[in-house]
Amino acid sequence: MSPRTRADSAHISPSAHYTGYVWYRHQLAEPAFATGFGRLAYGLLKPLVWGVREVLGLDLEHVLLQRHLLIDARLRAAIEQGGVRQVVEIACGLSPRGRRFCQRYPQLQYLEADLPAMAARKRLLLHGEGWLDGRHRVRDVDILAARGALSLQALFADLDQHAPVLVITEGLVNYFPRELLEGFWTRLAAQLARFPQASYLTDLYPDLREHPRYRQLRWGVDLVGRLTRGDYWLHYRDQAEIVAAFEGCGFRRVAVLDPEHDGAGLGLPDQGAPSLLRVIEARVP
Ligand SMILES: C[S@@+](CC[C@H](N)C(=O)[O-])C[C@H]1O[C@@H](n2cnc3c(N)ncnc32)[C@H](O)[C@@H]1O
Repeated sequence: MSPRTRADSAHISPSAHYTGYVWYRHQLAEPAFATGFGRLAYGLLKPLVWGVREVLGLDLEHVLLQRHLLIDARLRAAIEQGGVRQVVEIACGLSPRGRRFCQRYPQLQYLEADLPAMAARKRLLLHGEGWLDGRHRVRDVDILAARGALSLQALFADLDQHAPVLVITEGLVNYFPRELLEGFWTRLAAQLARFPQASYLTDLYPDLREHPRYRQLRWGVDLVGRLTRGDYWLHYRDQAEIVAAFEGCGFRRVAVLDPEHDGAGLGLPDQGAPSLLRVIEARVP
């Protein structure tokens, strides 16, 4: 498997229509977020998703909801208890989180960002509904760009660097091999170091080989890669490896959240099996 390059990570973007439709189906998004392509993809993949759940025990939709709701819960806590007033959601796709949180917290500044084509689509969507304003914005970014107009440095340049910031990525990091991913995290931590207080929330699927259904899950995960016309990597063997990797990139106080223990208040039914999903909450400094 050759490492993906900056030029070809656009193959991931169509998957945002699928997840956007899932958020809409579960009343997490208004109808504007559900695209025709998302609806079509959801319908076409339904038998496959059903088969993967019945045969492999991997409930893709449940995992998506777990990650989305767990990130929401940690974001709410950061705003209500941690004083966060500015949020940057990278690889926002068609996620409705920015809209929902701006409605709920009138003091919040919310910057969404994605590759240029997806960012343009999101901007059009939000603008069309009259939801874009000075505090809810959409910018272009490429997490693989080390410099230039699409870099993290350019994205963070017009934030208030005297106030706490929280960055989110969801449904992004496992599409990249470890070297590219850690390059992104290292650049992100360097940007965050300029703020008095900064945290990062992301979902992550580790390579948990001791999981009782590892082989089936591995097959299901490979299928996700094939459906998105790329590769889908599982990174890090356990919690210690995850923490070490984040610390190696410049993060501190790394918490590895497991929906089995940390998802009790999410209102989702218990799946009766350990999850492959983790949500990482890491801080700088
Ligand atoms: C699976 S979608 C997730 C979208 C959204 N976060 C959600 O959970 O519904 C992956 C997103 O990553 C974005 N993406 C892919 N490569 C990227 C890159 N190099 N830089 C920034 N975003 C990227 C895609 O455009 C897409 O919107």
